[in-house]
Amino acid sequence: MSRDTKIRVGIIGAGNIAGHHIPGYLQAADHAHVTAIADVDGERARQRAERLGDVQVFLDYREMVTSPLIDAVDICLPHHLHKDAIVAAAAAGKHILCEKPLCLTLEEADVVARAVAAAGVTLMCAHNQLFLPTVATARDMIRRGELGKVYAARTTDVFALDVTAETLGWRATRATSGGGELIDTGYHPNYLLLHLVDSVPVRVTALLTRHRLAFMEGEDTAHVLVEFADGTVGSIVTGWAYEPAGCTERFSAAGEDGSLWSDGRRLHFKPRRGEEVVVQDVGAVAPDTYALEVVDFIACLRERRRPLNTEVEGVNVLKLILAAYASAERGEVVELTNL
Ligand SMILES: NC(=O)c1ccc[n+]([C@@H]2O[C@H](COP(=O)([O-])OP(=O)(O)OC[C@H]3O[C@@H](n4cnc5c(N)ncnc54)[C@H](O)[C@@H]3O)[C@@H](O)[C@H]2O)c1
Repeated sequence: MSRDTKIRVGIIGAGNIAGHHIPGYLQAADHAHVTAIADVDGERARQRAERLGDVQVFLDYREMVTSPLIDAVDICLPHHLHKDAIVAAAAAGKHILCEKPLCLTLEEADVVARAVAAAGVTLMCAHNQLFLPTVATARDMIRRGELGKVYAARTTDVFALDVTAETLGWRATRATSGGGELIDTGYHPNYLLLHLVDSVPVRVTALLTRHRLAFMEGEDTAHVLVEFADGTVGSIVTGWAYEPAGCTERFSAAGEDGSLWSDGRRLHFKPRRGEEVVVQDVGAVAPDTYALEVVDFIACLRERRRPLNTEVEGVNVLKLILAAYASAERGEVVELTNL
């Protein structure tokens, strides 16, 4: 790290999500600052830099990554560029916050895992929904056994995305997105399910549909069923095609002794033989999970603490999604050991 003790971060990709990460760096200003931004669109990088003061702009992220200006990178690139950026940053000894998905294939996952291990750097997956306070509470309740043996868990992320082929851009084609909605917004309910269920996934089946966004190469909606080693059945519903029914929860879990569910802000618990209670209510304004994630990334580096999700969990999420794609393509249930 730098001698001024502040962690110096270089953002790679100055698009939409970079704008959501920047408030996190401003909140962590006592311990970190963004010293560089790289984007092939120099004007966009300069616009992002305006809120940050003295920031050097690079058109080629490889130059930024090898420069002594930074200790860590924040990868906010289109999906097909994640692997190369991770490898370049790791090779330069820089710590990494990487937007989802970690990468696109098992071969890429292998390269990423080896690059991070060889460099001994910290990689944190930007799984922002794990920073919802209700998620942390629900996970603790499940692990404390408050639901008894868990039989079923469900995670969802569904909304009506108003886009055209032009505005969807690199997300509309498989070569640059890696699939369709499931490997994009759908990444969130996948990591959320793995975070909540206290077991390992073994088998996956999926139905992918293109209800409305006909110009997409991939699916605009996905229904995925996951069987875990302990018998828990997980289900994921995710999509960009429609507004979900009002009763659709963000996540839920049900077991022999009770159930819990949440819209992300309020967490409900209903013991099997008791009254429903609201266990947690974070209020009307949703917490800024992007800022919380960035602040935690900086804290992990300072405290030399393992992030909640590293490349290990990132690869596990990717495997679940690749299994869902394989299941839809083959029309069969896919064992995770048979990808
Ligand atoms: N966690 C979330 O909720 C969330 C939300 C949106 C996006 N994301 C993720 O963030 C990432 C970026 O998405 P976005 O919406 O910001 O995309 P975007 O298209 O708005 O931004 C991507 C940026 O990368 C730049 N870029 C492209 N190729 C480059 C290269 N070779 N070198 C440097 N810069 C390059 C583009 O010019 C653009 O500014 C994706 O991984 C996406 O899945 C996450």
